[in-house]
Amino acid sequence: MPRNTVAVPPLQAPLLPEELAVAPPDYAALEDRHPAFRRFAAALGNTPLIPLPGPDGGARLLGKCEWENPAGSIKDRVAYALMGDALQRHGNSPLAGLRVVEYSGGNLARALSLLCADLGVTARFVLSSASPRSLLDVLAERGAQVDLVDKELGFLEVVRTALRTPVEEDGWTLLYQHRNPANLLLHEAATGQEIIRQLDGRAPAAWVASIGTGGTLIGVLRALRSAFPGVRAVGVTPEELPYGSPEPPNGKPKYAGSGGMGHGIRQPFVALHDHEIEHYAVSYPQALDGMAEFHRLTGVRIGSSAAANWLTARRIAAALPPSQTVVTVLPDAGTPEEWERLGG
Ligand SMILES: Cc1ncc(COP(=O)(O)O)c(C=O)c1O
Repeated sequence: MPRNTVAVPPLQAPLLPEELAVAPPDYAALEDRHPAFRRFAAALGNTPLIPLPGPDGGARLLGKCEWENPAGSIKDRVAYALMGDALQRHGNSPLAGLRVVEYSGGNLARALSLLCADLGVTARFVLSSASPRSLLDVLAERGAQVDLVDKELGFLEVVRTALRTPVEEDGWTLLYQHRNPANLLLHEAATGQEIIRQLDGRAPAAWVASIGTGGTLIGVLRALRSAFPGVRAVGVTPEELPYGSPEPPNGKPKYAGSGGMGHGIRQPFVALHDHEIEHYAVSYPQALDGMAEFHRLTGVRIGSSAAANWLTARRIAAALPPSQTVVTVLPDAGTPEEWERLGG
């Protein structure tokens, strides 16, 4: 029996376009009020857009280096956006009374735990039991509460467990990255605008990004389309459970941070733009090989979703002339466990 009346829309409920036509949090005012929020913002974003190894004779590739963010991934931007929304809703009440709960594939929990510890906000994360030791250790050090869900149930059950928390227990603020407009709007206003500036007037042929919530893919797409209406949009998800798959969720290893939800559920941000997205799938072994190949070619460590993006962007670029540009994102540099798997 639910103890309170918090209404949480299910993951699969369609998002209405007008739900995204809202003002983002007033970040400037929030930074004035919370010094820890300002400190996090000062280290956030403005990441480099670097040339990546591309196919011989094909389009050139550019990748945005998101491990340069304060907690090491693109999800630092989303942590800032979701906490901006939560802080704004909390108003002038003392932060000791704010308790946030969220599900994560890893990077968002890492980012939120850093920001919440500095703010003095209680943080609780629902994660898969397959989460790496390195993540669990960091969360414990930062005083975050963790609920683990059996990995065989897939990420969908991780999400649903978090969605039940504010309904079944009083006092928890759910951040809800898959439906919170602040996620997508921040990528549109910051990540996307940074890329437009870095392109310096050169129109990209395609934008390639892995889909977790789809916040990166769609937020940046909306920004790019405002400057370059013809840009193609390419979404990448794991072959073991691609976007929109009718299969039930599964516990198979997959490249990080991305994936279909199973049972035909489509991430709401992406579903809004379904007719505009080309979908590609990358298996976990292909992504691991991609990490190793990228490291061999460049000496730079990228994570498994970055490798999936790079491999896909290279495929797209192979079919385009050298005068064209394909842009992608490198969400993180990989976990110690992934690099151990690759033999250090
Ligand atoms: C490593 C990694 N890659 C890609 C993504 C996808 O990001 P988005 O939620 O914006 O689709 C995530 C999200 O958690 C991630 O952690």
